[in-house]
Amino acid sequence: MRAIAIQEFGDPGGMAVVDLPAPEPGAGQVLIETEAIGVGGVDAVIRRGTLGSGYPRGMIPGSEVAGTIIGVGAGVAPSWIGQHVWAFTGTAGGYGELVVAEAVDVTPLSAGLSPVDAVTIGSAATVARFALARAPFASGESVLIRGAAGSIGIAAVELAARGGASVVAVTTSSAERGRRLAALGATDVLDRSGNGSGGIVRRFDVIVDIVGGDAVPTFIDRLAPNGRMVLVGAVAGFPPADFGMRLLQSFQESRSVATFSLASIAPSTRSSARTQLFEATARRELHPVVHAIMPLERAAEAHRLMDEGTVFGRIVLTP
Ligand SMILES: NC(=O)c1ccc[n+]([C@@H]2O[C@H](COP(=O)([O-])OP(=O)(O)OC[C@H]3O[C@@H](n4cnc5c(N)ncnc54)[C@H](OP(=O)(O)O)[C@@H]3O)[C@@H](O)[C@H]2O)c1
Repeated sequence: MRAIAIQEFGDPGGMAVVDLPAPEPGAGQVLIETEAIGVGGVDAVIRRGTLGSGYPRGMIPGSEVAGTIIGVGAGVAPSWIGQHVWAFTGTAGGYGELVVAEAVDVTPLSAGLSPVDAVTIGSAATVARFALARAPFASGESVLIRGAAGSIGIAAVELAARGGASVVAVTTSSAERGRRLAALGATDVLDRSGNGSGGIVRRFDVIVDIVGGDAVPTFIDRLAPNGRMVLVGAVAGFPPADFGMRLLQSFQESRSVATFSLASIAPSTRSSARTQLFEATARRELHPVVHAIMPLERAAEAHRLMDEGTVFGRIVLTP
């Protein structure tokens, strides 16, 4: 089977098309013939090699796919074969024609949901949904989504707007991206530093932060009294080590900062939430934004676009 391997970490040019033997599903696993493969922000972080967590050369990146189950391992009912599914593959293994996933990490595709849409929102909308719940966000509150132009952010904008937010503010890097986010439900468009037009400095009940990095303390300052920030990503790196000082300095405002990872949610709970999100998408209540659909062998080009920062939504690879 054809797959994409990272032969050298760093530049996208270190990725290559390889021919490999078909993987075998082990106990509790399924084998999927892929139809759509999501290119996630985390794939780019791993390929850059900045995580330094010891991924071996030759690893296959990719964490979510959609396709058809064509084989099962011990302990998985043969009746699963032929089902159209979305699957999480961990932090590796997704960029291939054939992919193995744990059966507990598989969610059936709802009727009317395309594989491309499934890999655009399968992980992202689930992260957004649980991050808003973790805050917790309630109808009538004001919300800021920091780093809203990626697939997690876009889903968070739509879910906050549908959930009755009084304000859905976003940070983004251009007016054009701001216009696209406004069409999805954003009411206020701010630049990456959190500045809006007209110099209004608003504070928020909830901040969902996908960006992280040095500016986290500045955004803690933008929490209203009793405001809650949930850190879900780190596209600009980790926050400074002393970011908690900002909370202590505003002690009387009772603000809080939480982290959220989907890995902390039980697979069955994740899967039922994802099924609801898939059904909402099939009803066109959520609108997955696909930046481009590209053949698998152009994975390096997809990563180059990610590095250039020109992607809005998600790139999807097709085998
Ligand atoms: N918590 C979880 O369970 C979970 C699960 C999956 C992934 N993740 C994490 O989520 C992140 C990826 O999410 P994603 O794919 O939605 O994001 P993304 O598309 O990689 O980035 C989101 C947006 O952030 C903005 N941005 C990029 N670099 C920036 C910088 N240096 N400073 C300020 N803004 C910047 C960009 O928008 P503009 O150019 O418009 O500003 C970009 O579109 C990764 O950190 C990944 O590890 C978390």
